[in-house]
Amino acid sequence: MSTIRPRPGLEGCEPYGAPELEVPVRLNVNENPYPPSEAVVAGIAAAVAGAAAGANRYPDRDFPALRTALADYLAVESGVRLPPERIWAANGSNEVMLHILQAFGGPGRPCLSFAPTYSMYPEYARDTLTPFVTERRSDDFTLGSPDSDDPGQGIQGITEAVRAHRPAVIIVASPNNPTGTALPTHQLRALLDAARGSGPVDLEGRPCDALVVVDEAYGEFRRPGVPSALELLEDNPHLVVTRTMSKAFGMAGLRLGYMAAGTSVVEALRVVRLPYHLSALTQAAALAALGHREELMAQVASLRAERDELVTWLRSRGLTAHDSDANFVLFGPFADRDAVWRDLLDDGVLIRVVGPPGYLRVSVGTPEETARFRAALTRTLSSPEHTTAQEALA
Ligand SMILES: Cc1ncc(COP(=O)(O)O)c(C=O)c1O
Repeated sequence: MSTIRPRPGLEGCEPYGAPELEVPVRLNVNENPYPPSEAVVAGIAAAVAGAAAGANRYPDRDFPALRTALADYLAVESGVRLPPERIWAANGSNEVMLHILQAFGGPGRPCLSFAPTYSMYPEYARDTLTPFVTERRSDDFTLGSPDSDDPGQGIQGITEAVRAHRPAVIIVASPNNPTGTALPTHQLRALLDAARGSGPVDLEGRPCDALVVVDEAYGEFRRPGVPSALELLEDNPHLVVTRTMSKAFGMAGLRLGYMAAGTSVVEALRVVRLPYHLSALTQAAALAALGHREELMAQVASLRAERDELVTWLRSRGLTAHDSDANFVLFGPFADRDAVWRDLLDDGVLIRVVGPPGYLRVSVGTPEETARFRAALTRTLSSPEHTTAQEALA
């Protein structure tokens, strides 16, 4: 019998991932439901063919052309112009965040996040031997208003929590998954202020700043008037903003995530990345996709409108549906959310059991997919066994 064992800390851990089920309507992993057009596919295929012709060589380790194209995209999308040296990319923003914790986390250097939030953060921490600590978001899933009367909450509470944990890294998703909440700028500023001098001490015993990572995977779906944290980069060298081509861009299959930060952060990430981590084919495909950005992003406005209509519709059914700046909606509460999830699946609609107890998350699909979801949920809600959590308590 074999006695090989993974290292302590991995016992009993399951690989991360939502169920991958073959069903007609998949609204469970916040993908963009619109596949790329034939023209985009042809453009990517031609670029990949060109890269394949030189595939006997290793790719460019620092991919300057791709970083320039990503910087150009950010300038158009958010109005913030950055030099390519301040951009870094990897195989999905997942890998960017892993690089961040490889470089800035580690034993004795905690990572702080605010729950409920994206469930991969503890996994990046585990994989880099980084202690992971959480604080609670307030009832509106923000970091709390300055006048919060909930003790320990509000900006004051956040500041105290940051100082108490002395985290090396703070990760905050905005818009947040699974709640859809974008953080107001004054809260991000307060978090950045609290992070100054609140990180671990350096070898000379001087306190460092905690690195604040704002995960904007869903940034392009934010509602009009909601600013991006990119605007705060100028005044905050300890800020990192991560983005991805997986969501609004409709390129989840490409695996391309990136970040904007100060050059010293980028330099630290270059130390820990594997050599040639971004294949020549990925670089070529991403560059080609960025060249079609207007076409690929054409659906973002209609997805936003579809999302807002979905929120209104869910509320009209007597459910709580949270305002969302992302391409999904958190709704509930249900006495037995697993039963609702199964009923929907039986009707061919796959959504996600995630978030606060009693709640479910549905991604915004095409109008046809959303109509299937509404019809399936209407059937479920009208079945005699079904109760909402409020009804169960009544
Ligand atoms: C908040 C958040 N951040 C990051 C990611 C990872 O995205 P990527 O596909 O770029 O790795 C996701 C994916 O669902 C997400 O929800």
